[in-house]
Amino acid sequence: MNKLIVANWKMNCSIDEATSLLQHLQNIACDNDIVVCPSFAHLYLAKEFHLTFGAQNCAATENGAFTGEISAAMLKDMGCRYVILGHSERRQLFQETDSTIKTKLNKAIEHGLTPIVCIGEPLDTYKAGKTKEYIKSQLDNLELPAHNIAIAYEPIWAIGSGLIPSIEEVSEILAFITSYTHNQFRTLYGGSVSDKNCISLADIKDLDGFLVGGASLKIEQFKTICHV
Ligand code: PGA
Repeated sequence: MNKLIVANWKMNCSIDEATSLLQHLQNIACDNDIVVCPSFAHLYLAKEFHLTFGAQNCAATENGAFTGEISAAMLKDMGCRYVILGHSERRQLFQETDSTIKTKLNKAIEHGLTPIVCIGEPLDTYKAGKTKEYIKSQLDNLELPAHNIAIAYEPIWAIGSGLIPSIEEVSEILAFITSYTHNQFRTLYGGSVSDKNCISLADIKDLDGFLVGGASLKIEQFKTICHV
């Protein structure tokens, strides 16, 4: 099956930089499904390039008096197909809880977007060997509906750090998520995915793709990842 490779640009890029990256992305010829998630400010550019694109967040409410928010309805209207939800940066820096994420998830689904739901443990939980319990509690709280959803396992300590769990550890957690969710959803790995580690990660049985941050802004590296 094709892998789902998601580029999470976070809050990066000028218009020129985004345009140049998108031009290169458009020319990548591979069998995998590539999704680019620029900042809200650059979504319109992805639309111009006819790429599959998504947002990095959405509001938990319908349109209305919510200054500074962007609704799932607006994202769908502008051509987004995906939305990343529950990223650890949203959880840690913007106080999003499983309950907020669950509400956003249902809004996204209602408006025809495919949510990419992020889960993953902090370092102390990993060190204590309690990753599965932590992830199970996140999944319990999210009550994922039977719908087109991708789950991204992203250990918080692996994001942007250059560190990743061992292949065995990623395999074990993805197998756990796959079994918990009765193999209904695509399961991705994210956290310091690079052109160096993508090949060995791609061999993991339950791995259906990657959520890529830093390396998605470096086009040569990202191209290698897209060709796994
Ligand atoms: P990273 O980010 O690839 O830079 O570690 C991944 C993410 O935050 O989704």
